[in-house]
Amino acid sequence: MALLAVIIGVAIVVENRPALQGREAYAPPNNGAAVVAATSTATATATATVEPTATHTLPPPSPAATFTATVPTPTATRQPTPTPSPVPPVVLTAIARQCAQYTDVQRLLLTRVDRDVLLPRDYLPEDLQVMPLNPGNVFYGSVQMRKIVQQPLLDMLDAMNQAGLKTIVISGYRSFADQTLAYEQWLRLFPDRAPQLSAVPGHSEHQLGTAIDFSTPYMKDQYGDYFSKSFADTAEGLWLTKQAAYYGFTLSYPQWAEDVTGYEWEPWHFRFVGSLAQQLLENHVTLTEYIQKCNGGS
Ligand code: DAL
Ligand code: ZN
Repeated sequence: MALLAVIIGVAIVVENRPALQGREAYAPPNNGAAVVAATSTATATATATVEPTATHTLPPPSPAATFTATVPTPTATRQPTPTPSPVPPVVLTAIARQCAQYTDVQRLLLTRVDRDVLLPRDYLPEDLQVMPLNPGNVFYGSVQMRKIVQQPLLDMLDAMNQAGLKTIVISGYRSFADQTLAYEQWLRLFPDRAPQLSAVPGHSEHQLGTAIDFSTPYMKDQYGDYFSKSFADTAEGLWLTKQAAYYGFTLSYPQWAEDVTGYEWEPWHFRFVGSLAQQLLENHVTLTEYIQKCNGGS
């Protein structure tokens, strides 16, 4: 298993590929609440089948319908037939209302990648960077992620380090080729469950450069594997479950949503989506469901 972790920790960079563009800014958490600001000049230039459209087509949030109930007063004279009230606006679901709140940059973070939708084999985020991790947070080799993830990630790890937690980053960006190796390893280890444990190449959020796997240095000794569901019970796992959203990271595959995501619970796998992460946590909504609804089910 250590071998698997090493393999999936390796990232291969291929340059000059379609990428997302945009100016992004991040403000560190203030009193426990992270603020991820984003400007909206981004333009989607990657393959049309996988990138969110640059122009948001959902209607703006509708104001709550207000009705003034008029209780008819009985009178002796006949009242004219009341004119029917206008049909109230369609009540958007909570999810759809949120869709309208995010800027282009936020939406660029919401590229749909799941069991049904895949990325091109050669998709590569243009702004991948090696994350300058504190040595205590390094597992093996370097980890690459998109530039927008760097500051929130470092802030979050700083907070965890200061709290005395031992957190390591096992894996960030994975190319299609890296994912192929990872999937083959899972297939060898668990032939029956591999599709629920690992994304088939092209279907992994790791290829976006915004997904990340955490663990602790003691996971393997104490629980037999760096990737174990017991991570959720560790101090590090508990902290991430509650706090990661404030830094913009959402748990992609929660325990309660295996039917929705199609993957087994992964308490170690987070994806950076900015301030949307807090909304998802508070509303108990998976990223999978949110993206599907925000993209009009596409
Ligand atoms: N383990 C997740 C599903 C992946 O392989 O991307
Ligand atoms: Zn992962």
